[in-house]
Amino acid sequence: MKIAKALIFGGSALAISFLAGCKAGGENQGLEYAPQMYHSVAYEPLTQIKDESQGSWLSTREDGKGEFFNSNIHNPHAMNMREPVANTVPRNKQGYLPYRLKAFELEPAALTKNPVESSDAVLKQGEALYLQYCNACHGKGGQGDGKVGEVIGGVANLTGGAYVNLPEGHIFHVITKGKGRMGAHGSQIPEESRWKIVHYVKQVIQGQATAAAPAPVADSTAVAQVTPAN
Ligand code: HEC
Repeated sequence: MKIAKALIFGGSALAISFLAGCKAGGENQGLEYAPQMYHSVAYEPLTQIKDESQGSWLSTREDGKGEFFNSNIHNPHAMNMREPVANTVPRNKQGYLPYRLKAFELEPAALTKNPVESSDAVLKQGEALYLQYCNACHGKGGQGDGKVGEVIGGVANLTGGAYVNLPEGHIFHVITKGKGRMGAHGSQIPEESRWKIVHYVKQVIQGQATAAAPAPVADSTAVAQVTPAN
């Protein structure tokens, strides 16, 4: 009996010390099996590691070079990142070009056409977004009577006067860059969602089947294209 107890006691002490040995924390990373599987060698976009022996202690490379060596002579400027092809402009996931109009450039903005096709689903999303981002000031019906609107005052009544005839591009621009006492929402609301809000404002709040925009001269990408950078 005594022997059995001693064995159990000794065994658990041994197990505890083994487990304690696995503990990682602070400066101690613990023991890692096959560290390459946990830590992939990150390629820094703006630099290359040109020293062929870097990481040779870890290397299993067939070319005999160090694990961290990642210099590519075909990339210019000793960078891993490639530069865009000359005279090209990167588009985002939706295929839009960057929106480069400045806050005061309302006139060219008014020519921008809504690239998002309207549908019941889009209007529903537009409604949700409007309630989230605009309702507080402009109110549910767009009359400038939201809770915050009542306090700050001077909020545009989107259903009245000249506001009813605002082109879609103008509304998009105001959401993106702000105007007067209204702050810019470009950094909070993704581009596509802003265009959905525009559909909602135009069609539901202002009750217009389609935009009262002037004959569209160009779509949003073309306008962005003719607008010089910065
Ligand atoms: C913090 C309050 C506030 C929020 C939030 C807000 N607005 Fe405004 N909005 C204003 C005020 C104030 C004005 C009047 C701006 C001025 O002319 O000084 C205005 C003006 C406007 C105008 C008229 C622009 C013009 O040409 O005069 C439009 C269109 C508009 N807002 C749409 C929106 C939409 C769409 C949203 C939601 C994405 C929104 N606003 C969110 C306060 C707000």
